[in-house]
Amino acid sequence: MEVMEALKGRQSVKSYLPTPVEEEKLQKVLEAGRLAPSSYNSQCRKFIVVTDPAVKKEIHDKAGTQPMIEQAPVVLVLCATPDTEHEDAMPCGEVKHPIDMALSGAYMMLEAYDQGLGTCWLGAFNADAVKEVLHIPAEVKVVTMIPLGYHDGTQPRRDRKPVDEIVSYNAF
Ligand SMILES: Cc1cc2nc3c(=O)[nH]c(=O)nc-3n(C[C@H](O)[C@H](O)[C@H](O)COP(=O)(O)O)c2cc1C
Repeated sequence: MEVMEALKGRQSVKSYLPTPVEEEKLQKVLEAGRLAPSSYNSQCRKFIVVTDPAVKKEIHDKAGTQPMIEQAPVVLVLCATPDTEHEDAMPCGEVKHPIDMALSGAYMMLEAYDQGLGTCWLGAFNADAVKEVLHIPAEVKVVTMIPLGYHDGTQPRRDRKPVDEIVSYNAF
């Protein structure tokens, strides 16, 4: 699939079928996350694959998540692990760990789309509760959870602003 085809076709999927995700497809999605760039190539990341229905239910019940966490056959929990060699604040003033994770997540969502699978980036959850359920060390940050699975193909398409509204040349 062309990159632009995946960029145009991917949508956030908020309702999942119980159909299991094939191991080969899951591995391709994880590989996409592994290949993403990271600041200093530090690769301070850990992807937790949650497939156990009891664990998904516990996350859903304790972390205040949407039903898709229980519904999707797989939930990818993207964790930023500590970088002991570099400051989290970059010279530009931004912190790097959520950016690193966002790139991994974006790569994973696009690969999932190419595999015929749906995903949705989630930010609405209590990270401390997720850490407790999954025994994640205190110094690790849970940046997002991404449900992964098949869907019925009817999610609405959300518009984007036209390019001339978001692009300028040579000055703001
Ligand atoms: C940083 C971030 C946080 C998000 N958090 C949630 C969330 O908690 N729950 C949810 O249903 N969708 C969440 N989304 C999905 C957005 O609502 C969705 O990407 C946006 O509406 C555009 O739709 P599309 O992905 O179908 O193009 C999040 C997306 C991003 C990038």
